[in-house]
Amino acid sequence: MVLMDFMVRKILITGGLGFIGSSLIASLKRQYADQIQITVLDNSSYGGLGQLASALGCAIRSDENSATVIDNVIVHHGDVTEQNTVQTLVDDADAIVHLAAQVSVPLSTQNPAQDFEQNVVGLFYVLDAARMSDRKPKIVFASSNAALGEVEQPVSEVSLPKPISPYGASKLASETFLQAFSHSYGMNHVALRFGNVFGPGSFSNTGVVAKFIRQALGGEVLEIYGDGAQTRDFIYMDDLVRSIEQAVFLDNTDFELFQISSGLETTVSEVVEKICQEFVKAGLQQPDVKYGEKRSGDIVRNVSDVSRAKDILNWHAKTSFDEGIAKTVQWFLDQQE
Ligand SMILES: NC(=O)c1ccc[n+]([C@@H]2O[C@H](COP(=O)([O-])OP(=O)(O)OC[C@H]3O[C@@H](n4cnc5c(N)ncnc54)[C@H](O)[C@@H]3O)[C@@H](O)[C@H]2O)c1
Repeated sequence: MVLMDFMVRKILITGGLGFIGSSLIASLKRQYADQIQITVLDNSSYGGLGQLASALGCAIRSDENSATVIDNVIVHHGDVTEQNTVQTLVDDADAIVHLAAQVSVPLSTQNPAQDFEQNVVGLFYVLDAARMSDRKPKIVFASSNAALGEVEQPVSEVSLPKPISPYGASKLASETFLQAFSHSYGMNHVALRFGNVFGPGSFSNTGVVAKFIRQALGGEVLEIYGDGAQTRDFIYMDDLVRSIEQAVFLDNTDFELFQISSGLETTVSEVVEKICQEFVKAGLQQPDVKYGEKRSGDIVRNVSDVSRAKDILNWHAKTSFDEGIAKTVQWFLDQQE
């Protein structure tokens, strides 16, 4: 495939060894092969070299500069809170996809200082390094609907945010810094607020889809908290990755913020029903399901208005929930062989 924008030759992906990063890199490699040089900065606190190697279907090799190379992707082992490392890598990037983060809402509540350090300070160092770099690279930032918290549905870019966890607050703070720096220093950063991401590669992802599939494969009873009528807006990995790629190549002149989701509500009961159907189709025993106590703090509805992403980013989700679940269950089954 021909490169869409010849200005973007070198992409730095922080957190590139994780669930989303590995899929993004595999997709960029499929489309552009070595027309784009991809560099990863990851502290391996969650993702690992194995996840990326598996997404790329390639072996891991070390090069002489003590970085690791997988299919020409250079992986630096380091932390986004190491300012000097960040500056060196940012100086050599035309664009940055910032995925590195502490991603657990419960952990952010248990240790808000660590969440702040990893998520807000980490983003700030990347942002400030981009400001000081001659190339003035665009940052595409992985935000979340958690930045909005409990607000009227559907949520959109103009919803008034009321985050209810330190993790949500860290994402909102990061968005505001990206906006302020874009305005103050003439940069064009983009924040993408992801819904509930699911898809192949979710070995240990804590999302509800991966959790239920893992439980079902382990012969466990699938426990639905409450009556199962609570809704979420699920986004399949391939669609999510396409939104990140389009944001990297978007010809914007100022800060942009987009809701990235399917725009459709799916109940948790429907998720379980669909997974059970896929198990039966695969000739496996139908998992048992039980209804447990409603969890305090669980929001009742979550759905995004995605019209802005459609109009400006020229993006919308193409994979139906049913198709995405079928592919995800199949991926988990393939891993067992
Ligand atoms: N998966 C989802 O459903 C979802 C939804 C909304 C937003 N997001 C955001 O998308 C991004 C990627 O999420 P993911 O699902 O791939 O998570 P993940 O945990 O699989 O990947 C995050 C990666 O960042 C690395 N990392 C963490 N802290 C780091 C640090 N301080 N320095 C360097 N590397 C660090 C981890 O080792 C891991 O490889 C995160 O910012 C997350 O908040 C994810």
